[in-house]
Amino acid sequence: MANDKIALIGAGNIGGELLNGIVRESLGDVVLFDIPAKLDFARGKALDTQQAAALWGKSARVEASSDYAAIAGARLCIVTAGVPRKPGMSRDDLLAINVKIIRDVAAGIKAHAPDAIVIVLSNPLDAMVSELRRATGFEPQRVIGMAGVLDSARFSAFIAAELNVSVADVRTLVLGGHGDTMVPCLSYCTVNGVPVPQLMSQEKLSAIVDRTRSGGGEIVGLMGTSAYVAPALSALAMVTSILRNERRLLPCAAYLNGEYGIEGLYIGVPAILGSVGVERIVEVNLSEGEKQALLRSAGAVRELVEAAAKV
Ligand code: APR
Repeated sequence: MANDKIALIGAGNIGGELLNGIVRESLGDVVLFDIPAKLDFARGKALDTQQAAALWGKSARVEASSDYAAIAGARLCIVTAGVPRKPGMSRDDLLAINVKIIRDVAAGIKAHAPDAIVIVLSNPLDAMVSELRRATGFEPQRVIGMAGVLDSARFSAFIAAELNVSVADVRTLVLGGHGDTMVPCLSYCTVNGVPVPQLMSQEKLSAIVDRTRSGGGEIVGLMGTSAYVAPALSALAMVTSILRNERRLLPCAAYLNGEYGIEGLYIGVPAILGSVGVERIVEVNLSEGEKQALLRSAGAVRELVEAAAKV
């Protein structure tokens, strides 16, 4: 049986990490796509990973291209094309630049990989995934945004460090838009079933929630560019669930059609990811405060989507 073909649109920091993860996990063959000015850079990354694959004992095919014809037949496209944040910038500041890039990418995918499932990572995430869906006209269930897995991983990491327990036992759920309005759902935060609010004070938990909200910005401030290891691994969890039909329940930006009282909008919710993309959106019980926070977050995302439409 032929390997699945995976197209990485954007050969930057996240694209490179994704490439390594896909090859190392034997998820498929990869086309690393970037603009012509970055083609040699992408070729270099492809070669570096191919040589790493010799050390991992993996034999995936890796090809770099700046011609969309190369992505033909891709089962999955992962979009990281765009500009990352610089210190002091919010994700929303990227909107005007990245929306044009996303339209370009959407046209390429629509023309050359019209049956692919698409995962978007470019920021501002909820507006970019929404724009890519609109511009391709693809069914919403096969266009998905990566944010909730990353936000939940950040929340889990901070909780494990504070409690000095294994992060393997920490479960968290962060919903809503990928930005200041994200909604960490405390009722679903446990250490192997033990609710986190029983294990730490309200003050400590609130401080962790705040740090999670600005978790991306903290790293931009330190590195001068945005995080790329955890974002790539978060997308990889989604990719694996889809390609291997694992049907994991993962928080991701999915298109809502009335679920959670939200109509016609991409926003972070728990979804079952399988071979068709979003198999189903899971509606969990939320506290009154969490419901209100999710609706507020939806309002902020809607404003961004409208701003994107005007560009
Ligand atoms: N088509 C394809 N690729 C493009 C295009 C385009 N029209 N425009 C830019 N790119 C490429 C750039 O050439 C670059 O190689 O996208 C890549 C982005 O890589 P980085 O600058 O290293 O950014 P990265 O850290 O990977 O983040 C990418 O994901 O999380 C978000 O905020 C982040 O929006 C940013 C995106």
